[in-house]
Amino acid sequence: MPELIQSVRGMNDLLPPDSAKWGYVERRCRELFERHGYEEIRTPVLEHTPLFARGIGETTDIVEKEMYTFTDRDESSLTLRPEGTASVIRAYIEHSLAHREPVSKLFYIGPMFRRERPQKGRYRQFHQIGAEILGRDDPLIDAELLLMLHDFFTALRLEVTIDVNSLGDAVCRPAYRESLRVFGESRLAQLCENCHARLHRNPLRLLDCKEPGCRQVTADAPVFADFLCAPCRDHFARVQDYLRRENVPFALNPRLVRGLDYYCRTSFEVIAQGLGSQNAVCGGGRYDGLVEQLGGPAVPGIGFAIGVERLVMLLQAQAPPRSSPPDLFIAPLGEAAEGRAFSVAHRLRLGGYRIELESGSRGLKAQMRRADKLGARYVLILGENELAAGKGTVRDMQAKSDRPAAIDLALPARAMIEAIYNPSSQPSALSPQPEGAEQDSPGKV
Ligand code: HAM
Repeated sequence: MPELIQSVRGMNDLLPPDSAKWGYVERRCRELFERHGYEEIRTPVLEHTPLFARGIGETTDIVEKEMYTFTDRDESSLTLRPEGTASVIRAYIEHSLAHREPVSKLFYIGPMFRRERPQKGRYRQFHQIGAEILGRDDPLIDAELLLMLHDFFTALRLEVTIDVNSLGDAVCRPAYRESLRVFGESRLAQLCENCHARLHRNPLRLLDCKEPGCRQVTADAPVFADFLCAPCRDHFARVQDYLRRENVPFALNPRLVRGLDYYCRTSFEVIAQGLGSQNAVCGGGRYDGLVEQLGGPAVPGIGFAIGVERLVMLLQAQAPPRSSPPDLFIAPLGEAAEGRAFSVAHRLRLGGYRIELESGSRGLKAQMRRADKLGARYVLILGENELAAGKGTVRDMQAKSDRPAAIDLALPARAMIEAIYNPSSQPSALSPQPEGAEQDSPGKV
């Protein structure tokens, strides 16, 4: 027996019925983004390594330890994207999007890759739904983005907390970094090895350490709010005013520093209960210097990314996935009946109905078992001897009753389904709407 080849650790297959939940989440996001004027962008999963090294920051965990980087045949260094923002900015600059519109609102959905230690809610291939606004730096935009996120989670009936902080700008950050460094130096003996390294390379990351000892020490660390320059303080205050105006609940979290270096001013994370230690379902913030840093014009930006695996986990806890049953299950008996069933199924599917078609070579009993498993309410049984008469038998699986029905391929799909559901041909209350007309809900996927 050849050896079984399994998927790569931390990279998962997405199977039904979970895939339907993902489709639902993606549809809701697209709807929401379109209502807010975002347009989709798709960028390649591979980029030149310096894009991430420069964009995310050389001293971040992502760039130092977690990237899937390899040397291509032409000796160039390529990396599987660990996040979407740097790629979006690269495309924004490369295609001069700034010249097309003063403000670009872009969203993306796709896989990201980080070589982290896999655990619940943390994978090596994971998926993000992200949004970026380029071209405006006023507090209204920050608040609008956060309000949209709040509305999104509320619409999904998920209880989350939005943690916010301001990470200042190039004017006020150096003094804060220095104060954290001095604070860390004075407590060096109580800090972990990693924090010793962080202290010199990236002192803000002291606040992000998960070690209980370090967390205890840094509980008394200086907070950014005391160091913000007047414009940053005013910007942050106005963001909060807008959020209060629309009753968006948020929590000020002075420890929130984010794991990517490009952030400035408003930074945030959406935290959900029930995810264990990987409880951030979304992260984001403002990155006003990034476009310039990557070789583009001085255009400010802000954005977020939602972790799809974590979001789906939250929804799963709320309502188990359920596939919607077919509108009709067609059970042909024999080859001739199968041909007619094939045409009936095609006609009804064109009309927007969800049809399950079995093979005519299977026995009636086996076909019925499958119809039952799929939750079909109606089964159209097409037997060879009914064919000539243009008839079939409809079995109502709930009422456990059979009745004859006329099958006329010349009729429009709606009339055909009416005749099947209700042989007296009166419009029936049980008629399903074509799929597109259905109301979307997390229970029905
Ligand atoms: P991030 O905080 O690194 O930000 O990731 C955003 C979200 O992706 C996290 O909150 C989490 O839900 C999910 N995520 C991250 N790593 C993993 C993983 N290994 N397994 C499963 N889910 C994960 C960014 O990536 C920024 N680009 C967000 C952004 C957009 N900032 C501005 N614009």
